[in-house]
Amino acid sequence: MKNITRENLTDTVKSSFSQIDGERQRHLVNRLVHHLHAFASETGLSHDEWREGIAFLHRMAEISSPSRSEFTLLSDVLGLSSLVDLLAARPGATEGSVLGPFHTRGSPWVDNGSNLIKDNPGEAVLIRGRVSDTEGQALPKATIDFWQNADNGMYWQMDDSQPQDNLRCQIQVQADGSFELATIRPRPYLVPTDGPVGELLRLSHRDAWRPAHYHIIVEAPGHRSLITEVFDAADPWLDKDAVFGVRASLVCDFQPASDAATAARLGLPAQYLAVELPIRLARED
Ligand code: BEZ
Ligand code: FE
Repeated sequence: MKNITRENLTDTVKSSFSQIDGERQRHLVNRLVHHLHAFASETGLSHDEWREGIAFLHRMAEISSPSRSEFTLLSDVLGLSSLVDLLAARPGATEGSVLGPFHTRGSPWVDNGSNLIKDNPGEAVLIRGRVSDTEGQALPKATIDFWQNADNGMYWQMDDSQPQDNLRCQIQVQADGSFELATIRPRPYLVPTDGPVGELLRLSHRDAWRPAHYHIIVEAPGHRSLITEVFDAADPWLDKDAVFGVRASLVCDFQPASDAATAARLGLPAQYLAVELPIRLARED
């Protein structure tokens, strides 16, 4: 019989996991036990507090569904998602930022230079980008997966008035790595607050706003995939993003533009806004 004591409990639990086959998984579980026990010891966690924590997790599970992960949202508002993004950063590569819950696989493929505006109200924007490696060499096989919210702040999944796949697409870049897209200016919006994460935000007197942004995933053979966002420099919520996704390098000026030939080519109005997106991908490790 092993007498479990305050002194030997943590090491006993750690050694109960020492047979996990994968070295990395073994290490992760060991450190998880270590830090969970350290948290409870350091805070002197009481039974009531422990029960409250477990009830919170139950409420998170109850509101989660295949189309809504309250757990990812918790990770986002705790800054864990952003920490994982920052840990994955590579020198010279474009910085990553949170994926968020509104990405869906299989967005429609459109030609380079397409116009996503259709019936959407909002300010017209020309996005011009170029995908290269960290030395500036074009990556002609790169693909872009793009999504954003509509002028009312909502993604199409949240809003029955929008057609399916509104304001989202996939594009193959040109031979020189460049791409162009006509769309609308994104809008700030609130992360969902009707679940336990909302309780936590209210308890903390925290705002639930995200500054206006585009989402992009960039992939190219032999290179690390990039999940990132592009923020509007004029947005009032840049300093208070509920999910800590803003990086200075991802904040772009939406510049007034009026080039007639470009406007005609992309079906833009005579006056539009233009955003430049240089994207650099790191080689696969
Ligand atoms: C979003 O950018 O769409 C998002 C990110 C994190 C939580 C909620 C929404
Ligand atoms: Fe978003």
